[in-house]
Amino acid sequence: MLILTAKEIEKVYSMQDAIAADKQALKIYTQGDSDVPLRINFDMQKGQSLFMPAHIKGSDIVGIKIVSVFPDNPQLGKPSVPAQVLMLDPLTGEVCAMLDGTFVTQLRTGAVQGAATDLLARKDAKRAVLIGTGGQAISQLEAMLTVRPLTDVAIFDIDSEKGKQFTQQMKIRFAHFSANLYFSQHLDDDICQADIITSVTTSKVVTFNGDKVKSGTHINGVGAYTPEMHEIPASIVKKADIRVLDTKDGVFAEAGDIIDPIKQKLVSQSDFLELGDLVIQPQLCRQNAKQITLFKTVGTAVLDVYVGYDIYLKAKERGIGINI
Ligand SMILES: NC(=O)c1ccc[n+]([C@@H]2O[C@H](COP(=O)([O-])OP(=O)(O)OC[C@H]3O[C@@H](n4cnc5c(N)ncnc54)[C@H](O)[C@@H]3O)[C@@H](O)[C@H]2O)c1
Repeated sequence: MLILTAKEIEKVYSMQDAIAADKQALKIYTQGDSDVPLRINFDMQKGQSLFMPAHIKGSDIVGIKIVSVFPDNPQLGKPSVPAQVLMLDPLTGEVCAMLDGTFVTQLRTGAVQGAATDLLARKDAKRAVLIGTGGQAISQLEAMLTVRPLTDVAIFDIDSEKGKQFTQQMKIRFAHFSANLYFSQHLDDDICQADIITSVTTSKVVTFNGDKVKSGTHINGVGAYTPEMHEIPASIVKKADIRVLDTKDGVFAEAGDIIDPIKQKLVSQSDFLELGDLVIQPQLCRQNAKQITLFKTVGTAVLDVYVGYDIYLKAKERGIGINI
């Protein structure tokens, strides 16, 4: 069995790799060639453990992500949300790899936004806005920088000190992209100019003013994952010319910023495509520079398992990881 930490995964796997893998995984999902049972949740005395398996049928890739939420862990010097991805050997059924699940989640979540931005944003997109500077934000920023040659990225967080610190760190980390990264002092002004907007927060209320969004903008909603959570204004969900979800089942069940506009009859479920549809039929992507496009993700185990196995194969080929 190969043990792969975040550092080792970084050595063998790039954001481009993850974007390509996510596109393929969601194509397989939309074609009905995967099994993704409902998540199993166990409530325990000190926290909760979540089990998320998936089976990619054709290639017999099977794996599971196990994520636990144990709020008291930091007092023990341990992470509050430990996570691992376990992969099975398709020929023997043995566990063949254990990967850092927190890092795989960050990578595949950034990459799914990158895949959507690649398929939907204008080719000449130059200016982006990133809202939210928490644990998922680095890979979200990297994904946007990877798929378009951006000149400017405005970064915003409701916690301005945290947002400013994050911006400074990202200027160093992503200096090789030569985009101007700055903390947004006037979010409305930056939204007005944005070609791409990505919101990745824990907010229950919308994170930007939909009236400020110009035509031609592509918007990604990554954060809201319960019916009470909202990042994307309902007016934008209504106004968007193309609306795309990672999985319809997941988003219609979980994401408040999509569930509510449907309840309010501003849009209906039939107004949404899956990202897999765009991969299968590229003619469904943006048709002109004026369209507003929207992507919403809540995540799916297909992404963890497909990306996890792809990383495992690359690491094995390169002899990277701890073999036990
Ligand atoms: N779509 C997916 O597959 C996927 C995967 C992983 C995580 N998530 C979700 O993404 C969200 C962000 O995750 P994280 O780990 O970065 O969280 P985090 O708690 O580390 O960071 C969230 C950040 O959002 C900021 N924020 C909250 N409300 C805001 C607002 N109104 N405007 C601007 N900033 C605001 C907070 O100050 C914080 O910095 C969570 O809801 C998480 O569950 C989604």
